[in-house]
Amino acid sequence: MKILLTGGAGYIGSHTYAELCAAGHEAVIVDNFSNSSPLVLERLQSITGKPVLFHEADVCDGAAMDGIFAARAFDAVIHFAGFKAVGESVEKPLSYYRNNLDSALALCERMQAHGVRRLVFSSSATVYDASCHPPLDETMKTGCVNPYGWTKYMIERILMDTAAANPGWGVALLRYFNPIGAHGSGTIGEDPAGTPNNLMPFITQVASGMREKLTIFGGNYPTPDGTGIRDYIHVVDLAKGHAAACEYLKTHPGVETFNLGTGTGCSVLEVVKAFERVTGVHIPYTMEDRRAGDLPVSYANTDKAQKMLGWKAEKSLDEMCRDAWRWQKQNPFGYRQV
Ligand code: NAD
Ligand code: WQD
Repeated sequence: MKILLTGGAGYIGSHTYAELCAAGHEAVIVDNFSNSSPLVLERLQSITGKPVLFHEADVCDGAAMDGIFAARAFDAVIHFAGFKAVGESVEKPLSYYRNNLDSALALCERMQAHGVRRLVFSSSATVYDASCHPPLDETMKTGCVNPYGWTKYMIERILMDTAAANPGWGVALLRYFNPIGAHGSGTIGEDPAGTPNNLMPFITQVASGMREKLTIFGGNYPTPDGTGIRDYIHVVDLAKGHAAACEYLKTHPGVETFNLGTGTGCSVLEVVKAFERVTGVHIPYTMEDRRAGDLPVSYANTDKAQKMLGWKAEKSLDEMCRDAWRWQKQNPFGYRQV
């Protein structure tokens, strides 16, 4: 298939590009580098052995997107582009609503104008209402607690309404749990700007000596070791889920929602211990107060993706830690060449 990846230079998009090429698809990236580096394109060229098909543009720019859709007849689009930092979304809600909603709206309008009707959307487990009890399945109640989450919720709604009004459309709403890890080459990976908000990049920066210690947010949750539990999924498994969703949409119009997780929860301390075991590097930490807005436990029921997409996450927590560490060691400053 010919597949357009908005935000394809980012963390998940770049891994998906590599997996789509490996599966024989023609993938094309559009990105404005608002949260990524052009160096990703060189790395992807080395991984795939082929020049990367790429457009530098803002997805909100309808005229630029018209040019991209006019140049190639795409079979599907995967929409990764958007802002993703929960804390920042609380500080700058308008910027999040503007970029995430505008890009989704502009994209759908341009797809409609150019007759492209298959869309895979990067949604998030954050759209599940805090009252839901894990394992979370796709039928459960939705509701959010921060502007970032609401943008995902609203875009899901926009896509459902668009597909309902246009029966030819096929939409897969992929609710990611906690993607971590990196490509096995160690040449692409997660590159947070500034202090990492997420657990694994923080751990790898402590391991490399860039940060003194990890702060564990909460040691008194009602979990076996008192720390929060999440469903960590290897980014390469997640990327393969996108290839499966594109295949699915070839024969299935309408809207379906799929959880992409492993179905297993791990605590913060379990992640720290696994990381120490596979890398041999000690991670000093202190136990501090809970972080506002954090859930005690979140993990997926993945039955639907298994049954309907024929996809299942395969990589272990050990592989996630090993691959995240390889990326960090090979690129101590991420894509910044300091
Ligand atoms: P990322 O920031 O690494 O990638 C997003 C990419 O989109 C970046 O390369 C950025 O430059 C680009 N971009 C942003 N706005 C753009 C615009 N208007 N036009 C063109 N390009 C634009 O993020 P990621 O971790 O790869 O996440 C990809 C998607 O998955 C996001 O929509 C995110 O909300 C969603 N998601 C991520 C996670 C996670 O933990 N990483 C979890 C659930 C959902
Ligand atoms: C995981 C666990 C923390 C950092 C976020 C977004 C979510 C999704 C994925 C986009 C929690 C603990 C973390 C640290 C810690 N993104 N932790 N010390 O919060 O589950 O999900 O990223 O859609 O929307 O909210 O992931 O990696 O931040 O935290 O103790 O320095 O690690 O409390 O239990 P989270 P995370």
